[in-house]
Amino acid sequence: MALEDEAQVSEAQIAVHWREEEYYQPPTKFIGQANASDPEILERFGEDRFPECFKDYADLLTWDHYWHTTLDTSNPPFWKWFVGGRLNASYNCVDRHLKRDPNKAALVWVPEPEEELTQAITYRELYQRVNEFAALLQGFCGTETGDRVTFHLPMVPELPVAMLACARLGVVHSQVFGGFSGAACGGRIADSQSRILVTMDGYYRNGELVDHKVKADEAVERAREEGVEVEKVLVWRRHPGQYASKSPMVPGRDFFVDEVMPDYRGKLVDPVSMPAEAPLFIMYSSGTTGRPKGCQHSTGGYLAYVAGTSKYYQDIHPEDTYWCAADIGWITGHSYIVYGPLALGTTSVMYEGVPTYPDAGRPWRIAERLGVNIFHTAPTTIRMLRKLGPDEPAKYDYHFKHMTTVGEPIEPEVWRWYYDVVGKGEAAIVDTWWQTENGGFLGSTLPALQPMKPGSCGPGVLGIYPVIYDEEGNEVEAGSGKAGNICIRNPWPGIFQTIWGDPDRFVSTYYEKYCRDRDSKDWHDWPYFANDGAMQAADGYFRILGRVDDVINVAGHRLGTKELESAAVMVEEIAEAAAVPVVDEMRGRAVEMYVALKPGVAPSKEVEDKVARMIETEIGKIARPKNVWIVPDMPKTRSGKIMRRVIAGISNFTDVGDTSTLANPEVVEDIREHVQGEKTARGEVPKELSAKDQEEIRQFGQAE
Ligand code: WT7
Repeated sequence: MALEDEAQVSEAQIAVHWREEEYYQPPTKFIGQANASDPEILERFGEDRFPECFKDYADLLTWDHYWHTTLDTSNPPFWKWFVGGRLNASYNCVDRHLKRDPNKAALVWVPEPEEELTQAITYRELYQRVNEFAALLQGFCGTETGDRVTFHLPMVPELPVAMLACARLGVVHSQVFGGFSGAACGGRIADSQSRILVTMDGYYRNGELVDHKVKADEAVERAREEGVEVEKVLVWRRHPGQYASKSPMVPGRDFFVDEVMPDYRGKLVDPVSMPAEAPLFIMYSSGTTGRPKGCQHSTGGYLAYVAGTSKYYQDIHPEDTYWCAADIGWITGHSYIVYGPLALGTTSVMYEGVPTYPDAGRPWRIAERLGVNIFHTAPTTIRMLRKLGPDEPAKYDYHFKHMTTVGEPIEPEVWRWYYDVVGKGEAAIVDTWWQTENGGFLGSTLPALQPMKPGSCGPGVLGIYPVIYDEEGNEVEAGSGKAGNICIRNPWPGIFQTIWGDPDRFVSTYYEKYCRDRDSKDWHDWPYFANDGAMQAADGYFRILGRVDDVINVAGHRLGTKELESAAVMVEEIAEAAAVPVVDEMRGRAVEMYVALKPGVAPSKEVEDKVARMIETEIGKIARPKNVWIVPDMPKTRSGKIMRRVIAGISNFTDVGDTSTLANPEVVEDIREHVQGEKTARGEVPKELSAKDQEEIRQFGQAE
């Protein structure tokens, strides 16, 4: 095809060149014990049963007052679920389990230092701690129902305690990921107008006791600049009585929780009966542009949705030991470490530190010691463990019945390692696709009923009816081999209620694009635009290509970063890969690949060529990278997402932007020297980029 012809192909209609993968059947033993093992469940959640099908989820909860209307669509797209219902999330996650099993572990907390003892917190003990902290918030801080409280906490049990204490009072919590900077935290305090900040002096990460309190000072300062005054900073101490931070306590503002707590010891606070529609929490999502979006989640709809999906998709039974290795600072942790598992009364494991500390065997030692049988993590962690300890899992005697991958597309090669080596071929895997905005899973296989397919999340989950539209809103058919924008046609209970303080942005970002009639009160006219590219195979399974702005448009070909990266990791020497665009006079954009090698492999021209050839074979000549750069490590956020915009900036000789939220900022200079040095020597230094190109590179694959 000539380049001109290629350039005329419509963006969303471009064929995606991706090989179909084989199915894996769920293990028989898993099917025998699964919560959803009768295919009849698929009918119960059929579109003809919508929205009443979600009564199944709501009935997993204890309601103070039953609802009268399942779904109220009178003010689209601000859907209301379980209207008229009242409940308390803290009661549902804690109190109601006390009767049956007060001494069962609710949380098992594993500190990062391996010599420090693991703590099991029973439901009874959790009840006490939640009540005491709620009493402190009420008595010492004067918080009232509807107030917002910001947390900037690491992975310690105090975090779920604080969340559930707020939930008990009907106070809206907003946890900011502990790895974020003080400034980022301050911006979110200001946006949510919190008067109280809850933090900790320090925590362990990679063997070091990190000073965390210092960020609270920056956060308060930033919030003040943005017009919000923080009245009290509550500081938990990682080791009560010992202060791990260099930052001085500000008299009258900063208080050690362990010093204030004695006044509230043993106090009980009645759970406040909240309307189903009351906000439970705010979770900020890193948008591609502009201010972070405070996703506001409801109490009844959200809790019902995470309880239901935890039951059927995580296959959680009360007697399981479930470990989701995400951080509670992300929605995954809110939904699938705290609210979902605890609503079901199971044991949820929390780990403080880095999965590869002190070595890549750590997760498997934790699993063996605690008898973890359900394991939940992200592709980035899987890739890291595969790179650093490919043979480690076999050395430990643990057995998973079920495993999850979440957060980004997983390369089929990596999926197979997860299945064969981590899962020892015994576990059902779910690849769950969803977003901060969604509360819970949107796409996944039902683990006992639908076979797995590496690299595909599967069909829409129960009660979720996805569709792929092209730019004009025409449906892209399953099996057409074409990609487009994935949307959800219907509302569901876990969907966020609005962007905190910015309802217009809520409508414009997620609903405007495909709304058929702005005056319509029929939900059918209001598809939810996920801002993700995807394609649907003939069997109905979706393959998510990533956020729509994560594509590289080479001469009109829309190449998903993930398909390029999947091809690169098929080369056996490659551990990890990242694809970025470089501005190219001929083709608009060309692809550049950054790859990290497996341990023991030496960098060579030969490996670079292998990567280029593999991409050419797997995807096509058009995708052949202009350069393949072998790097020691990718710049990554603390949540493990590769910051493509940083390497895109290096490839294009433009500003790499803020690198303060990187887990490994030191690699940036190394990569820059290597890549720009080579490019200069090869005469590949680009002319000054247009403002539009600069902006695109600056925002490429933007993750915070
Ligand atoms: C974006 C959402 C899901 C909660 C944690 C991340 C990508 C998420 C998958 C998956 C392919 C996935 C999407 C989505 N994503 N899960 N299983 N397969 N892509 O939440 O930070 O809001 O990110 O992550 O692009 O839009 P988030």
